[in-house]
Amino acid sequence: MTTTAAQPGTWTGTWLEAAREIGLEPGGPVNIGWHCSDRICRMGLGAKRALLWEDAEGRSRTLTFDDLRLLTNTFAAFVRGLGVGPGERVCLFLDRVPELYIGFLGILKTGAVAQPLFSAFGEDSLHVRLQDAETAAIVTQRKHLGKVRRIREKLPHLRRIVVVDGAGAPGPGEVHLDLFGAAPVQEFAVHPTTADSPSVLHYTSGTTGQPKGAQHVHGSLPAQYLTSKRVLDLRPEDVYWCNADPGWVTGTSYGIIGPWVNGATQAVLDSGFNTDRWYDFVAKHRITVWYSAPTAIRLLMREGGEAARRRDLSCLRHLCSVGEPLNAEAVVWSERIFGRPFLDTYWQTETGCIVITNLPGMKVKPGSMGKAFPGIEATVLDMNSLRPLDRPGAVGLIALRPGWPSLIRTYRNKPDAYASKFRNGWYLTGDRSSIDEDGYFWFVGRDDDVINTGGHLVGPFEIESALLEHPAVAESAAVSKPDPVNMEVVKVFVTLKPGYEPSDDLELEIMNRIRRKLSPLAMPQEIQFVDSLPKTRSGKIMRRVLRAKEWNEPVGDLSSLMND
Ligand code: WT7
Repeated sequence: MTTTAAQPGTWTGTWLEAAREIGLEPGGPVNIGWHCSDRICRMGLGAKRALLWEDAEGRSRTLTFDDLRLLTNTFAAFVRGLGVGPGERVCLFLDRVPELYIGFLGILKTGAVAQPLFSAFGEDSLHVRLQDAETAAIVTQRKHLGKVRRIREKLPHLRRIVVVDGAGAPGPGEVHLDLFGAAPVQEFAVHPTTADSPSVLHYTSGTTGQPKGAQHVHGSLPAQYLTSKRVLDLRPEDVYWCNADPGWVTGTSYGIIGPWVNGATQAVLDSGFNTDRWYDFVAKHRITVWYSAPTAIRLLMREGGEAARRRDLSCLRHLCSVGEPLNAEAVVWSERIFGRPFLDTYWQTETGCIVITNLPGMKVKPGSMGKAFPGIEATVLDMNSLRPLDRPGAVGLIALRPGWPSLIRTYRNKPDAYASKFRNGWYLTGDRSSIDEDGYFWFVGRDDDVINTGGHLVGPFEIESALLEHPAVAESAAVSKPDPVNMEVVKVFVTLKPGYEPSDDLELEIMNRIRRKLSPLAMPQEIQFVDSLPKTRSGKIMRRVLRAKEWNEPVGDLSSLMND
């Protein structure tokens, strides 16, 4: 068995064409910060709106690409002035305020690495990630400063703390930056980064051990450019909304880089989930393209279609989803409520861009993730031989041929973990799927979530999708529990929609309903009604937390759990 790690960045084929469309040449300079602001201005779009920002309190701000250019210059000059050098990590520990988006591009302009982290992280989660990254500076708000101050003694590499809404006397090592009050920096000498220069560092939570720092590079740009253009179908007149936080990769690849390198107008709402507020936001800004996630869609479904019908949401013309399997029920629901389906897109922190997807105009098969994006070679491998399975419908490991530009270049401090992702010339995603005769991928589950009952492998997705068809079920998680006969059997955890109460009758009724949909092996032995499911901050159900309890095993790393 051979191991092949990713090759250094030279763009080829589709990606080279995409690179040239945005003025890049192999071996030449590429800087995401410059390309997402200055280049758009040079194309004559300086006066176009880049950012429509608003928060839960109703504060708002509109920035043009020219504003973005100047503000990112100003931010970059400030960071350079702090003595932070190229390659050093600068953490963005901010709510979704404009400084987060500007700071991200500004940091990249200096050649430093942007390390965005959810501002809701507690001090332990923050500490682990700043320590592993040996972060040199952190940019934060007054409201989160307490957490930073409490751990800074333990962080010898952390030289500077930047407070963007500072007031009062800064503490030692702290400095205020009034970005919108500062004199705009007209010209900034952008660091001459190349395709292999590190850009963004995202921490992703594994099942066990500590979170891993996934290191992206500037050379990823053609991938985010092309996939945003083709999959999100961004057009000059669009108003695009990605509701993901830049603390996870969707919020950077498609919440900053992808839309702006395309010169698109994007809207940002700095607020948590709220059906009415979200629909109001869509209606107010006349959002045309919306990139969301199953966890949010299920919340909208839970509240019913009434709130959507009370508003004019006819502006929405294109809807995409990512992060978890998109249940067929959600696709059908969205067609009914919005008049168009949510299109599923599949990728990972590590892949940096969408790799399997439904393209606009492609036939949608509800419950399928779609096909490999043109330019990506994707297959499923036999679990044992790690050779491609050519039989339609056979379940295997989703694998991708390395060579697309946005594949991460390493896990920081964990080169062995990175090397172990490559086998036989393939990158292994750690997910399972089948491929049908038309090349559509049907997601089964993450390797770690698949249930082995009596030697048969059952994916949680089919069970959860069947459950979702019951009117009382809001969300569910299917996991294995130990069984003396079958080794493992299926147990499901279910949250109910408003107006339903847990009862034995309801359990029986749900069981009867899904019996017709599922094979006997996939039938749950037990339903447990719960108030909520454990989720990551990006909204993914953490089945391993539920499973560990059933098996009396340690739960592993919980730092990305929503409620810590
Ligand atoms: C894992 C990656 C995608 C960027 C943000 C999440 C699961 C993602 C889908 C989908 C089924 C999906 C996979 C994948 N996943 N999209 N459309 N259908 N599963 O990045 O946190 O690195 O998570 O999310 O299990 O491996 P991430």
